Amino acid sequence: MTNKLKYFLFSVFFLFLSFSLFLYHFHGIKALSFFDLLFFTLMLFLSNNITALDHSINQISMSIVLPFLFPIMAEFEPFQAAVIALIGTCNLKKREKGFIWYKFLFNRMMIFITAGAASLCFRIVLGHTNTPVLAFLAATIIYFILNNGLVYLVIKSSGGSQNISFSYFTQLIKIVFISFFLGTVLYHGFLKFGKPVFLSALLFVYIIKDFLYAKIKMLNSITQLTESFLKIIDLKDHYTEGHCERVARYTETLCTAMGIKRTKAEQIVNIARIHDIGKINVSDEILKSSSSLTAEEYNEIKKHSLFGYQLLKNIDLMNNGLDILLHHHEHYDGKGYPEGKKGTDIPFGSRILAVCDAFDVMTYGRTYKPAMSKEEIIQELERCSSRQFDPIIAGKMIELINKGVFDDIFRAGRYKAGIS
Ligand SMILES: [Fe+2]
Ligand SMILES: [Fe+2]
Repeated sequence: MTNKLKYFLFSVFFLFLSFSLFLYHFHGIKALSFFDLLFFTLMLFLSNNITALDHSINQISMSIVLPFLFPIMAEFEPFQAAVIALIGTCNLKKREKGFIWYKFLFNRMMIFITAGAASLCFRIVLGHTNTPVLAFLAATIIYFILNNGLVYLVIKSSGGSQNISFSYFTQLIKIVFISFFLGTVLYHGFLKFGKPVFLSALLFVYIIKDFLYAKIKMLNSITQLTESFLKIIDLKDHYTEGHCERVARYTETLCTAMGIKRTKAEQIVNIARIHDIGKINVSDEILKSSSSLTAEEYNEIKKHSLFGYQLLKNIDLMNNGLDILLHHHEHYDGKGYPEGKKGTDIPFGSRILAVCDAFDVMTYGRTYKPAMSKEEIIQELERCSSRQFDPIIAGKMIELINKGVFDDIFRAGRYKAGIS
Protein backbone atom coordinates (compact mmCIF):
# COMPACT_ATOMS: atom_id res chain seq x y z
CA MET A 1 0.00 0.00 0.00
CA THR A 2 1.50 3.35 -0.97
CA ASN A 3 1.71 6.25 1.51
CA LYS A 4 -0.64 8.27 -0.68
CA LEU A 5 -3.21 5.49 -0.49
CA LYS A 6 -2.76 5.21 3.29
CA TYR A 7 -3.45 8.94 3.74
CA PHE A 8 -6.44 8.73 1.45
CA LEU A 9 -7.93 5.74 3.27
CA PHE A 10 -7.35 7.46 6.59
CA SER A 11 -9.16 10.57 5.30
CA VAL A 12 -12.08 8.44 4.12
CA PHE A 13 -12.14 6.75 7.54
CA PHE A 14 -12.19 10.15 9.26
CA LEU A 15 -14.97 11.32 6.95
CA PHE A 16 -16.90 8.11 7.61
CA LEU A 17 -16.58 8.47 11.38
CA SER A 18 -17.54 12.13 11.55
CA PHE A 19 -20.36 11.72 9.06
CA SER A 20 -21.85 8.76 10.91
CA LEU A 21 -21.69 10.66 14.21
CA PHE A 22 -23.28 13.67 12.55
CA LEU A 23 -26.12 11.59 11.07
CA TYR A 24 -26.70 9.71 14.31
CA HIS A 25 -26.66 12.84 16.44
CA PHE A 26 -28.74 15.17 14.27
CA HIS A 27 -31.15 12.77 12.63
CA GLY A 28 -31.19 9.94 15.07
CA ILE A 29 -32.88 6.67 14.40
CA LYS A 30 -36.50 5.84 13.93
CA ALA A 31 -37.96 2.92 15.86
CA LEU A 32 -38.17 0.04 13.48
CA SER A 33 -38.90 -3.63 13.76
CA PHE A 34 -36.17 -6.18 13.50
CA PHE A 35 -38.15 -7.78 10.67
CA ASP A 36 -38.13 -4.52 8.64
CA LEU A 37 -34.41 -4.09 9.09
CA LEU A 38 -33.78 -7.68 8.06
CA PHE A 39 -36.17 -7.48 5.13
CA PHE A 40 -34.73 -4.32 3.57
CA THR A 41 -31.14 -5.37 4.13
CA LEU A 42 -31.84 -8.76 2.57
CA MET A 43 -33.56 -7.20 -0.45
CA LEU A 44 -30.62 -4.90 -1.04
CA PHE A 45 -28.18 -7.74 -0.53
CA LEU A 46 -30.01 -9.94 -3.05
CA SER A 47 -30.36 -7.11 -5.57
CA ASN A 48 -26.63 -6.48 -5.31
CA ASN A 49 -25.55 -10.09 -5.52
CA ILE A 50 -27.80 -11.50 -8.18
CA THR A 51 -26.92 -8.65 -10.50
CA ALA A 52 -23.18 -8.79 -9.85
CA LEU A 53 -22.33 -10.80 -12.92
CA ASP A 54 -18.79 -9.78 -13.58
CA HIS A 55 -16.51 -6.80 -13.63
CA SER A 56 -17.66 -5.54 -17.01
CA ILE A 57 -21.17 -4.67 -15.89
CA ASN A 58 -20.41 -3.10 -12.55
CA GLN A 59 -22.06 0.05 -13.77
CA ILE A 60 -25.23 -1.81 -14.68
CA SER A 61 -25.36 -3.51 -11.31
CA MET A 62 -24.82 -0.13 -9.67
CA SER A 63 -27.87 1.20 -11.44
CA ILE A 64 -29.88 -1.70 -10.02
CA VAL A 65 -28.70 -1.25 -6.41
CA LEU A 66 -29.61 2.43 -6.21
CA PRO A 67 -33.29 1.96 -7.16
CA PHE A 68 -33.58 -0.53 -4.29
CA LEU A 69 -32.23 2.19 -2.03
CA PHE A 70 -35.04 4.62 -2.91
CA PRO A 71 -37.80 3.14 -0.71
CA ILE A 72 -35.19 2.64 2.04
CA MET A 73 -34.26 6.35 1.90
CA ALA A 74 -37.92 7.27 2.14
CA GLU A 75 -38.71 4.81 4.95
CA PHE A 76 -35.75 5.29 7.27
CA GLU A 77 -33.63 8.03 8.76
CA PRO A 78 -30.35 8.71 6.86
CA PHE A 79 -28.22 6.93 9.47
CA GLN A 80 -30.35 3.80 9.26
CA ALA A 81 -30.45 3.89 5.46
CA ALA A 82 -26.66 4.18 5.40
CA VAL A 83 -26.26 1.18 7.75
CA ILE A 84 -28.66 -0.90 5.67
CA ALA A 85 -26.69 0.06 2.54
CA LEU A 86 -23.38 -0.77 4.24
CA ILE A 87 -24.52 -4.29 5.14
CA GLY A 88 -26.80 -4.90 2.16
CA THR A 89 -24.20 -4.20 -0.50
CA CYS A 90 -21.60 -6.71 0.77
CA ASN A 91 -20.55 -8.77 -2.18
CA LEU A 92 -20.31 -12.55 -2.20
CA LYS A 93 -18.48 -12.57 -5.53
CA LYS A 94 -15.08 -14.27 -5.43
CA ARG A 95 -12.24 -11.85 -6.03
CA GLU A 96 -9.50 -12.84 -8.44
CA LYS A 97 -6.81 -11.44 -6.16
CA GLY A 98 -8.36 -12.82 -2.98
CA PHE A 99 -9.75 -10.80 -0.09
CA ILE A 100 -8.06 -7.40 0.33
CA TRP A 101 -9.08 -6.00 3.73
CA TYR A 102 -8.51 -2.31 2.96
CA LYS A 103 -10.45 -2.56 -0.28
CA PHE A 104 -13.32 -4.16 1.62
CA LEU A 105 -13.21 -1.45 4.30
CA PHE A 106 -13.00 1.32 1.71
CA ASN A 107 -16.02 -0.04 -0.15
CA ARG A 108 -18.04 -0.31 3.07
CA MET A 109 -17.17 3.22 4.17
CA MET A 110 -17.80 4.55 0.68
CA ILE A 111 -21.27 3.06 0.43
CA PHE A 112 -22.10 4.36 3.93
CA ILE A 113 -21.03 7.88 2.99
CA THR A 114 -22.75 7.88 -0.43
CA ALA A 115 -25.99 6.28 0.74
CA GLY A 116 -26.06 8.43 3.90
CA ALA A 117 -25.42 11.64 1.95
CA ALA A 118 -28.00 10.72 -0.70
CA SER A 119 -30.51 9.95 2.01
CA LEU A 120 -29.77 13.21 3.84
CA CYS A 121 -30.12 15.10 0.57
CA PHE A 122 -33.46 13.36 0.00
CA ARG A 123 -34.67 14.53 3.43
CA ILE A 124 -33.55 18.13 2.92
CA VAL A 125 -35.02 18.51 -0.60
CA LEU A 126 -38.24 16.79 0.47
CA GLY A 127 -38.50 19.12 3.47
CA HIS A 128 -38.19 22.18 1.23
CA THR A 129 -40.23 21.11 -1.78
CA ASN A 130 -42.51 18.38 -0.49
CA THR A 131 -41.97 16.67 -3.86
CA PRO A 132 -40.52 13.14 -3.53
CA VAL A 133 -39.59 12.98 -7.24
CA LEU A 134 -37.36 16.07 -6.95
CA ALA A 135 -35.88 14.76 -3.72
CA PHE A 136 -35.03 11.42 -5.38
CA LEU A 137 -33.45 13.17 -8.34
CA ALA A 138 -31.23 15.24 -6.06
CA ALA A 139 -30.34 12.13 -4.03
CA THR A 140 -29.42 10.20 -7.19
CA ILE A 141 -27.12 12.98 -8.39
CA ILE A 142 -25.39 13.23 -4.99
CA TYR A 143 -25.01 9.44 -4.87
CA PHE A 144 -23.27 9.28 -8.26
CA ILE A 145 -21.07 12.33 -7.73
CA LEU A 146 -19.78 10.97 -4.41
CA ASN A 147 -19.50 7.39 -5.61
CA ASN A 148 -17.56 8.23 -8.76
CA GLY A 149 -15.54 10.95 -7.07
CA LEU A 150 -14.33 8.63 -4.30
CA VAL A 151 -13.55 5.80 -6.72
CA TYR A 152 -11.64 8.26 -8.91
CA LEU A 153 -9.62 9.48 -5.91
CA VAL A 154 -8.79 5.97 -4.68
CA ILE A 155 -7.60 4.95 -8.15
CA LYS A 156 -5.42 8.06 -8.33
CA SER A 157 -4.06 7.47 -4.81
CA SER A 158 -3.10 3.89 -5.62
CA GLY A 159 -1.05 5.12 -8.57
CA GLY A 160 -3.50 4.06 -11.27
CA SER A 161 -5.01 6.25 -13.91
CA GLN A 162 -8.61 6.41 -14.94
CA ASN A 163 -9.61 7.80 -18.26
CA ILE A 164 -12.42 10.25 -17.88
CA SER A 165 -13.65 10.81 -21.37
CA PHE A 166 -16.73 12.41 -22.77
CA SER A 167 -18.30 8.98 -23.36
CA TYR A 168 -17.68 8.17 -19.67
CA PHE A 169 -19.80 11.17 -18.70
CA THR A 170 -22.57 10.44 -21.19
CA GLN A 171 -22.63 6.84 -19.93
CA LEU A 172 -22.80 8.12 -16.36
CA ILE A 173 -25.64 10.52 -17.09
CA LYS A 174 -27.54 7.66 -18.72
CA ILE A 175 -27.04 5.51 -15.61
CA VAL A 176 -28.18 8.37 -13.35
CA PHE A 177 -31.43 8.65 -15.27
CA ILE A 178 -32.03 4.89 -15.52
CA SER A 179 -31.46 4.58 -11.76
CA PHE A 180 -33.72 7.53 -11.06
CA PHE A 181 -36.48 6.15 -13.25
CA LEU A 182 -36.31 2.59 -11.88
CA GLY A 183 -36.07 3.87 -8.30
CA THR A 184 -39.09 6.14 -8.69
CA VAL A 185 -41.15 3.29 -10.17
CA LEU A 186 -40.07 0.97 -7.35
CA TYR A 187 -40.86 3.58 -4.69
CA HIS A 188 -44.37 4.24 -6.01
CA GLY A 189 -44.96 0.50 -6.39
CA PHE A 190 -43.88 0.08 -2.78
CA LEU A 191 -46.26 2.83 -1.63
CA LYS A 192 -49.16 1.16 -3.41
CA PHE A 193 -48.51 -2.54 -2.93
CA GLY A 194 -46.04 -2.75 -0.05
CA LYS A 195 -43.18 -5.20 0.37
CA PRO A 196 -44.20 -7.75 -2.32
CA VAL A 197 -43.07 -5.17 -4.89
CA PHE A 198 -39.47 -5.77 -3.82
CA LEU A 199 -39.84 -9.48 -4.47
CA SER A 200 -41.32 -8.94 -7.95
CA ALA A 201 -38.56 -6.41 -8.75
CA LEU A 202 -35.94 -8.95 -7.69
CA LEU A 203 -37.55 -11.61 -9.84
CA PHE A 204 -37.60 -9.16 -12.77
CA VAL A 205 -33.92 -8.29 -12.28
CA TYR A 206 -33.09 -11.99 -12.04
CA ILE A 207 -34.81 -12.67 -15.36
CA ILE A 208 -33.25 -9.78 -17.28
CA LYS A 209 -29.87 -10.75 -15.83
CA ASP A 210 -29.74 -13.67 -18.27
CA PHE A 211 -30.38 -11.35 -21.21
CA LEU A 212 -27.71 -8.96 -20.01
CA TYR A 213 -25.35 -11.86 -19.44
CA ALA A 214 -25.89 -13.17 -22.98
CA LYS A 215 -25.18 -9.72 -24.39
CA ILE A 216 -22.00 -9.35 -22.37
CA LYS A 217 -20.85 -12.82 -23.38
CA MET A 218 -21.34 -11.84 -27.01
CA LEU A 219 -19.39 -8.60 -26.57
CA ASN A 220 -16.60 -10.54 -24.85
CA SER A 221 -16.51 -13.05 -27.72
CA ILE A 222 -16.12 -10.20 -30.23
CA THR A 223 -13.24 -8.77 -28.19
CA GLN A 224 -11.56 -12.18 -27.94
CA LEU A 225 -11.97 -12.83 -31.67
CA THR A 226 -10.58 -9.38 -32.50
CA GLU A 227 -7.60 -9.95 -30.22
CA SER A 228 -6.89 -13.32 -31.82
CA PHE A 229 -7.02 -11.73 -35.27
CA LEU A 230 -4.71 -8.95 -34.12
CA LYS A 231 -2.19 -11.55 -32.94
CA ILE A 232 -2.38 -13.34 -36.29
CA ILE A 233 -1.79 -10.08 -38.19
CA ASP A 234 1.16 -9.13 -35.96
CA LEU A 235 2.73 -12.60 -36.22
CA LYS A 236 2.40 -12.55 -39.97
CA ASP A 237 3.88 -9.09 -40.43
CA HIS A 238 6.39 -8.40 -37.68
CA TYR A 239 7.47 -5.07 -39.05
CA THR A 240 4.02 -3.57 -38.80
CA GLU A 241 3.41 -5.04 -35.34
CA GLY A 242 0.86 -2.95 -33.49
CA HIS A 243 -0.16 -1.14 -36.70
CA CYS A 244 -3.86 -2.05 -36.49
CA GLU A 245 -4.03 -1.22 -32.79
CA ARG A 246 -2.41 2.18 -33.38
CA VAL A 247 -4.66 2.94 -36.36
CA ALA A 248 -7.64 2.11 -34.13
CA ARG A 249 -6.39 4.63 -31.54
CA TYR A 250 -5.96 7.40 -34.14
CA THR A 251 -9.38 6.54 -35.56
CA GLU A 252 -10.95 6.94 -32.14
CA THR A 253 -9.27 10.33 -31.65
CA LEU A 254 -10.31 11.52 -35.09
CA CYS A 255 -13.91 10.31 -34.70
CA THR A 256 -14.19 12.09 -31.33
CA ALA A 257 -12.75 15.29 -32.80
CA MET A 258 -15.23 15.12 -35.68
CA GLY A 259 -18.16 14.61 -33.31
CA ILE A 260 -19.15 11.22 -34.77
CA LYS A 261 -21.93 9.44 -32.86
CA ARG A 262 -20.61 6.94 -30.32
CA THR A 263 -22.13 3.81 -31.93
CA LYS A 264 -20.83 4.78 -35.38
CA ALA A 265 -17.41 5.67 -33.99
CA GLU A 266 -17.22 2.33 -32.15
CA GLN A 267 -18.02 0.49 -35.36
CA ILE A 268 -15.24 2.29 -37.27
CA VAL A 269 -12.74 1.75 -34.44
CA ASN A 270 -13.58 -1.96 -34.24
CA ILE A 271 -13.03 -2.36 -37.96
CA ALA A 272 -9.79 -0.37 -37.74
CA ARG A 273 -8.45 -2.93 -35.26
CA ILE A 274 -8.65 -5.69 -37.86
CA HIS A 275 -8.56 -3.74 -41.11
CA ASP A 276 -5.48 -5.57 -42.47
CA ILE A 277 -6.56 -9.11 -41.52
CA GLY A 278 -6.58 -9.96 -45.26
CA LYS A 279 -2.77 -9.73 -45.21
CA ILE A 280 -2.63 -13.27 -43.82
CA ASN A 281 -3.24 -14.27 -47.44
CA VAL A 282 -0.22 -12.30 -48.73
CA SER A 283 3.07 -14.16 -48.99
CA ASP A 284 5.82 -13.46 -46.43
CA GLU A 285 8.33 -12.50 -49.14
CA ILE A 286 6.12 -9.69 -50.36
CA LEU A 287 5.26 -8.42 -46.86
CA LYS A 288 8.88 -8.44 -45.76
CA SER A 289 10.36 -7.14 -49.00
CA SER A 290 12.63 -4.16 -48.33
CA SER A 291 12.83 -3.05 -51.96
CA SER A 292 10.09 -1.38 -53.96
CA LEU A 293 7.40 -3.81 -54.96
CA THR A 294 6.98 -4.99 -58.54
CA ALA A 295 3.62 -4.39 -60.21
CA GLU A 296 2.77 -8.04 -59.73
CA GLU A 297 3.66 -7.98 -56.02
CA TYR A 298 1.68 -4.80 -55.54
CA ASN A 299 -1.34 -6.45 -57.16
CA GLU A 300 -0.95 -9.30 -54.69
CA ILE A 301 -0.97 -6.88 -51.73
CA LYS A 302 -3.99 -5.07 -53.14
CA LYS A 303 -6.06 -8.22 -52.71
CA HIS A 304 -5.89 -7.99 -48.91
CA SER A 305 -8.93 -5.77 -48.41
CA LEU A 306 -11.17 -8.02 -50.49
CA PHE A 307 -9.77 -11.14 -48.86
CA GLY A 308 -10.33 -9.70 -45.37
CA TYR A 309 -13.90 -8.90 -46.32
CA GLN A 310 -14.55 -12.41 -47.63
CA LEU A 311 -12.94 -13.97 -44.59
CA LEU A 312 -15.17 -12.17 -42.11
CA LYS A 313 -18.45 -11.76 -43.93
CA ASN A 314 -19.77 -15.16 -42.83
CA ILE A 315 -18.92 -14.66 -39.16
CA ASP A 316 -22.03 -13.14 -37.60
CA LEU A 317 -20.13 -11.64 -34.67
CA MET A 318 -17.65 -9.87 -36.92
CA ASN A 319 -19.48 -8.74 -40.02
CA ASN A 320 -20.85 -5.45 -38.72
CA GLY A 321 -19.67 -2.58 -40.96
CA LEU A 322 -17.42 -4.76 -43.11
CA ASP A 323 -17.78 -2.43 -46.10
CA ILE A 324 -15.54 -0.06 -44.13
CA LEU A 325 -12.82 -2.72 -44.23
CA LEU A 326 -13.44 -3.56 -47.88
CA HIS A 327 -12.95 0.04 -49.00
CA HIS A 328 -10.16 1.24 -46.71
CA HIS A 329 -7.79 1.63 -49.70
CA GLU A 330 -10.17 3.55 -51.95
CA HIS A 331 -8.99 7.03 -52.92
CA TYR A 332 -11.16 10.12 -52.82
CA ASP A 333 -10.36 10.78 -56.51
CA GLY A 334 -11.41 7.24 -57.48
CA LYS A 335 -7.89 5.89 -58.09
CA GLY A 336 -7.86 3.45 -55.18
CA TYR A 337 -8.86 -0.21 -54.88
CA PRO A 338 -10.65 -2.64 -54.95
CA GLU A 339 -13.57 -0.91 -56.69
CA GLY A 340 -12.23 2.53 -57.57
CA LYS A 341 -15.02 4.20 -55.59
CA LYS A 342 -14.96 7.98 -55.57
CA GLY A 343 -15.73 10.81 -53.10
CA THR A 344 -18.63 10.26 -50.76
CA ASP A 345 -19.46 6.95 -52.48
CA ILE A 346 -16.68 5.58 -50.30
CA PRO A 347 -18.11 4.68 -46.87
CA PHE A 348 -17.40 7.41 -44.32
CA GLY A 349 -15.60 4.95 -42.01
CA SER A 350 -13.25 3.92 -44.85
CA ARG A 351 -12.37 7.57 -45.51
CA ILE A 352 -11.49 8.05 -41.82
CA LEU A 353 -9.53 4.79 -41.81
CA ALA A 354 -7.61 5.77 -44.94
CA VAL A 355 -6.22 8.92 -43.26
CA CYS A 356 -5.32 7.13 -40.01
CA ASP A 357 -3.79 4.16 -41.87
CA ALA A 358 -1.56 6.47 -43.91
CA PHE A 359 -0.69 8.49 -40.79
CA ASP A 360 0.66 5.36 -39.10
CA VAL A 361 2.66 4.38 -42.18
CA MET A 362 4.17 7.87 -42.27
CA THR A 363 4.98 8.05 -38.55
CA TYR A 364 6.39 4.53 -38.27
CA GLY A 365 7.83 4.02 -41.72
CA ARG A 366 7.96 0.75 -43.60
CA THR A 367 10.66 -1.63 -44.78
CA TYR A 368 10.65 0.26 -48.07
CA LYS A 369 10.32 3.84 -46.78
CA PRO A 370 11.59 5.72 -43.72
CA ALA A 371 9.47 7.39 -41.07
CA MET A 372 8.59 11.03 -41.75
CA SER A 373 8.78 14.12 -39.54
CA LYS A 374 5.74 15.97 -38.23
CA GLU A 375 6.17 18.74 -40.82
CA GLU A 376 6.62 16.26 -43.67
CA ILE A 377 3.46 14.41 -42.62
CA ILE A 378 1.43 17.63 -42.58
CA GLN A 379 2.75 18.48 -46.05
CA GLU A 380 1.93 15.00 -47.31
CA LEU A 381 -1.60 15.11 -45.93
CA GLU A 382 -2.11 18.53 -47.58
CA ARG A 383 -0.70 17.25 -50.86
CA CYS A 384 -2.97 14.18 -50.88
CA SER A 385 -6.07 16.02 -49.69
CA SER A 386 -8.88 15.60 -52.27
CA ARG A 387 -6.69 13.06 -54.09
CA GLN A 388 -6.14 10.14 -51.75
CA PHE A 389 -8.02 11.58 -48.78
CA ASP A 390 -11.34 13.21 -48.05
CA PRO A 391 -10.35 16.91 -47.70
CA ILE A 392 -12.52 17.50 -44.63
CA ILE A 393 -11.11 14.48 -42.80
CA ALA A 394 -7.52 15.23 -43.83
CA GLY A 395 -8.05 18.85 -42.72
CA LYS A 396 -9.27 17.71 -39.31
CA MET A 397 -6.26 15.39 -38.97
CA ILE A 398 -3.88 18.24 -39.82
CA GLU A 399 -5.65 20.41 -37.25
CA LEU A 400 -5.15 17.71 -34.58
CA ILE A 401 -1.47 17.28 -35.50
CA ASN A 402 -0.96 21.05 -35.31
CA LYS A 403 -2.66 21.14 -31.91
CA GLY A 404 -0.09 18.62 -30.70
CA VAL A 405 -2.57 15.79 -30.10
CA PHE A 406 -0.11 13.25 -31.56
CA ASP A 407 3.08 14.81 -30.21
CA ASP A 408 3.84 11.82 -27.98
CA ILE A 409 4.07 9.68 -31.12
CA PHE A 410 6.55 12.07 -32.72
CA ARG A 411 8.44 12.27 -29.43
CA ALA A 412 8.74 8.46 -29.41
CA GLY A 413 11.50 9.24 -31.88
CA ARG A 414 10.86 6.81 -34.70
CA TYR A 415 11.69 9.55 -37.17
CA LYS A 416 14.63 11.00 -35.23
CA ALA A 417 16.14 7.55 -34.75
CA GLY A 418 16.10 7.20 -38.51
CA ILE A 419 14.37 3.85 -38.32
CA SER A 420 13.24 2.82 -41.74
FE1 LIG B 1 -4.68 -2.16 -45.66
FE1 LIG C 1 -3.24 -0.75 -42.70
